[in-house]
Amino acid sequence: LSKKVEMTNWEKGHYINYKKMSENLSIVRSRLNRPLTYAEKVLYSHLDDPHGQDIQRGKSYLKLRPDRVACQDATAQMAILQFMSANLPSVATPTTVHCDHLIEALEGGDQDLARAVDTNKEVYNFLSTSCAKYNIGFWKPGSGIIHQIVLENYAFPGGLMIGTDSHTPNAGGLGMCAVGVGGADAVDVMANLPWEVKAPKIIGVKLTGEMSGWTAPKDIILKVAGILTVKGGTGAIVEYHGPGVDSLSSTGMGTICNMGAEIGATTSMFPFNDRMYDYLAATKRKQIGDFARTYAAELREDKGAEYDELIEINLSELEPHINGPFTPDLATPISKFKDAVEANKWPEELKVGLIGSCTNSSYEDMSRAASIARDALDHGVKAKSMFTVTPGSEQIRATIERDGQLETLEQFGGMVLANACGPCIGQWDRRDVKKGEANSILSSYNRNFTGRNDANPATHSFVTSPDLVVALTLAGTLKFNPLTDTLKDKDGNDWKLSPPTGDGLPANGYDPGRDTYQAPPQDRASVNVLVSPESDRLQILEGFQKWDGQDATDLPLLIKCQGKTTTDHISMAGPWLKYRGHLDNISNNMLIGAINAANGEANKVKNQTTGEIGSVPGTARDYKKKGIRWAVIGDWNYGEGSSREHAALEPRHLGGLAIITRSFARIHETNLKKQGMLPLTFADPADYDKINPDDKVDIMCTELAVGEPVTLKVHPKEGSSWEAKLNHTFNEPQLEWFKDGSALNTMARHAAS
Ligand code: F3S
Repeated sequence: LSKKVEMTNWEKGHYINYKKMSENLSIVRSRLNRPLTYAEKVLYSHLDDPHGQDIQRGKSYLKLRPDRVACQDATAQMAILQFMSANLPSVATPTTVHCDHLIEALEGGDQDLARAVDTNKEVYNFLSTSCAKYNIGFWKPGSGIIHQIVLENYAFPGGLMIGTDSHTPNAGGLGMCAVGVGGADAVDVMANLPWEVKAPKIIGVKLTGEMSGWTAPKDIILKVAGILTVKGGTGAIVEYHGPGVDSLSSTGMGTICNMGAEIGATTSMFPFNDRMYDYLAATKRKQIGDFARTYAAELREDKGAEYDELIEINLSELEPHINGPFTPDLATPISKFKDAVEANKWPEELKVGLIGSCTNSSYEDMSRAASIARDALDHGVKAKSMFTVTPGSEQIRATIERDGQLETLEQFGGMVLANACGPCIGQWDRRDVKKGEANSILSSYNRNFTGRNDANPATHSFVTSPDLVVALTLAGTLKFNPLTDTLKDKDGNDWKLSPPTGDGLPANGYDPGRDTYQAPPQDRASVNVLVSPESDRLQILEGFQKWDGQDATDLPLLIKCQGKTTTDHISMAGPWLKYRGHLDNISNNMLIGAINAANGEANKVKNQTTGEIGSVPGTARDYKKKGIRWAVIGDWNYGEGSSREHAALEPRHLGGLAIITRSFARIHETNLKKQGMLPLTFADPADYDKINPDDKVDIMCTELAVGEPVTLKVHPKEGSSWEAKLNHTFNEPQLEWFKDGSALNTMARHAAS
């Protein structure tokens, strides 16, 4: 186990550490004294403190040391900007950035890519120069989709990775524990802090039997999504096992893990097997496969491992499925789909079929899809619906170009889009239907929420395997079942499609295609990070100011929020996403969705210094200009929803000091602490009702100590002052964050000393 095998062919000096993992694991084993699941083994072998860490599934918070970080271009901007403000010379954990989310589909691959390079120039320039500066591997626009590139180049059995994208779990197809996180978590790990996550529960999925015919790996996750629903995996890792696993290709397992995000799972994983070995060998990493074989006993579950929930699926009986519309867990087997279309009056005509994306763009997927297209072409017919193909990576595109699948798919009527997310993330300038017009589209993607693909709320979006996408695109209708129905060939004769076939791996190896990787240079000190001061999309973050050591007195309340206040209410998405890299601009959305308890309206608050009614961010800016700190009052579970760090950065940037609530969603609470804010809760939740939006407050910051409450003095406009006790969950190191102004300031201080 003490062999030196590098994690990836693209970096030097970062080794897979099975020895350390096995040592950690034996410490944990001697403490827990029970068989472990595979997911547990990977997690616990990456513990920061295997001796002292409390370990209870579903209860304790684990502190872990991931092997890698991956970021996509939309989320990387703020993550890197924050990292920069810690003044560290380079990332502490190997990191890559992937340009895939900002390329809009319209005319086809090359033209779309050229346009994106132009419109996103400043973002790409910033990312490429900052990556060069901080020793981050940079995958340029056109290189492919983050998860495909990670599987092809970085994932390895037993590894632990975090990524700033929800489909990071795709790397489970190579036995990696890969989890999607918010930018703040990524910054911690880039800066050498441990990553904290609630010890997941483990849902076991036992696969028996063997797939055949039209059934594809995608159908396993479509079925699981139907069973568990979009919430069923929350707080859990889905761990596949059983004899059926060996009939799946590594990329097929990747598809299943990828779409596990749709049931809310922390991640999904497969144990190491020969199919993974084959994939590692085919992607020029045989040495990793050989090394994994020496550690194989720990790269699968122990005998007798116990799951919190167990599902069994017999692959021999599994039918192809189509899930949707509007939600990925509405699962219908193909044999019942025709009836469901009629019963629900879903638009019967199939307008567009889309294959590819990070979920389904492997060599195997493309080969099977091409075999169906070939069958059709041999019978003189082509796609009836519009048809698009998104290769997952430049390597896939080049290989299927060389081997002919691409040409077949084009002859069939396919438009080949850039190696990027495109229509999957709404980067699609769709022109064949009008907004509001009901219509159906079918994709091999993973997510099909209302409006996601084309911003048309009337589009019925369904997800399925690439095989069914091609077959139904050929028929042009949702009411076609290729297993039972016939089609007409060019002479009007009935004919039935043959089930798809295709190699799992290219017989002649992968063709790497164009060179799309930028390695960090040797001399990084002289690299200049490019951010134009005029940019409205990017802004260098200035470190936040230290605490002045005083109690805060006479603070106005910016807003007393009433009811649900999610991170979406605090920092809205949609058009604001454009400003993710520009804190001052995106701060113009701060709390604009929150309901003001004073008037029941959103984004209308009273400026306590002027008496004028104004927007929430505008009022905060006025206080800031006048040197007045402010506080927010919140209701139960304040900050639930996505983990976006902007929801904590914005109030800090606009001069907020404290958010005082009945309770917090935990991730947001931690994010606030990281930005040097005070998340506090009423010791008596009834005090929330007593406090008025016009009151002024004093917060006795000097009382802050671990486990001790802080006094809040409330001064109503009329009537006498009163006091409340506020609780907090700061521990010793977190209190330093507050004192230093932010967690990054603390890191910078430690790095400098
Ligand atoms: Fe991109 Fe869609 Fe995957 S947005 S990362 S292709 S889920």
